[in-house]
Amino acid sequence: MSGSNGNGHLYVPQLAAIVKITDETYDTKTFTLRFVDDDYRKNFTFKSGQFVELSVFGAGEAPFGFASSPNRREDFDVTIRAVGRVTNALHAKREGDLVGVRGPLGNHFPFEEVMGYDILFVGGGIGLPPLRSLIEPMLEAREKFGRIIILYGARTPADRVYKSWLVELEKRDDIEFMQTVDVGDDSWTGNVGVVTTLFKKISVDPSKTVAFTCGPPIMIKFVIQDLLQMGFDGDHIISTLERYMKCGVGKCGHCAIGHKYVCTDGPVFSFTQMRALREQW
Ligand SMILES: Cc1cc2nc3c(=O)[nH]c(=O)nc-3n(C[C@H](O)[C@H](O)[C@H](O)COP(=O)(O)OP(=O)(O)OC[C@H]3O[C@@H](n4cnc5c(N)ncnc54)[C@H](O)[C@@H]3O)c2cc1C
Ligand code: FES
Repeated sequence: MSGSNGNGHLYVPQLAAIVKITDETYDTKTFTLRFVDDDYRKNFTFKSGQFVELSVFGAGEAPFGFASSPNRREDFDVTIRAVGRVTNALHAKREGDLVGVRGPLGNHFPFEEVMGYDILFVGGGIGLPPLRSLIEPMLEAREKFGRIIILYGARTPADRVYKSWLVELEKRDDIEFMQTVDVGDDSWTGNVGVVTTLFKKISVDPSKTVAFTCGPPIMIKFVIQDLLQMGFDGDHIISTLERYMKCGVGKCGHCAIGHKYVCTDGPVFSFTQMRALREQW
């Protein structure tokens, strides 16, 4: 199904209802979407790391990553920060309203390929949603992976997404979870400092660990720099690239970096692949 909306028309969106809206931060909401057509919904599958082109009628279309487990089949989440035309129009929607969805699009995170490895997640701010779509199925198949370490950083306690999920992660004794904020407040008794300051608190064996990182470009830059210094191979560092997209299906060229299209060759790339792309910028 990847690369089309599954009904044979690359550009035709499927109607989906907003069944739930969850406020995450002052500018970010999670939308739970459910396809209206029963058959389409039953047959719809996606993989962690893929994305959809979501249309708000009268406002436009933009790409958003899946934020929930692919094992959840009735509906799925997208977590969206209001930054412009489409996202502001979406934030004005209510539960029960309809949107258009094309997807699943793009490549995906490795899953079976990293079974048996220790897994290190490093998320920053609104970079946690795409990682959650991978963390959840890994926790559902917990015995298939080695250590699972999750590090999350946000600007302030209020800027953290999925606050109740973070509390659940904290309670688990089969993972190592740490969070930090750049600036604390009166209620915050946890770590303060950028997410890379948490590296000092963990010890990993880079030869048997795969790292997944998503967040603002500046965070990713420093995370990758530190992971390389810790001895990680570029193939064991996986991230996602964001590019301004139009078609999402490899036709318009908007997202091109050299000979690659982020919408079809990505958005998931290893650092080795990113380094090769960077040489073509
Ligand atoms: C694969 C992928 C997954 C994504 N997942 C998410 C997600 O899960 N959640 C989320 O909140 N966002 C996500 N994004 C980002 C989101 O798609 C963009 O922020 C999108 O532009 C928002 O649309 P908009 O109409 O609201 O904003 P726009 O009106 O497009 O403006 C958003 C920002 O983009 C800039 N911009 C507008 N046009 C251009 C252009 N031609 N070239 C460069 N910059 C431009 C604007 O100046 C502004 O800063 C993802 C992007 C990609 C590529
Ligand atoms: S967005 Fe059109 S080719 Fe990638």
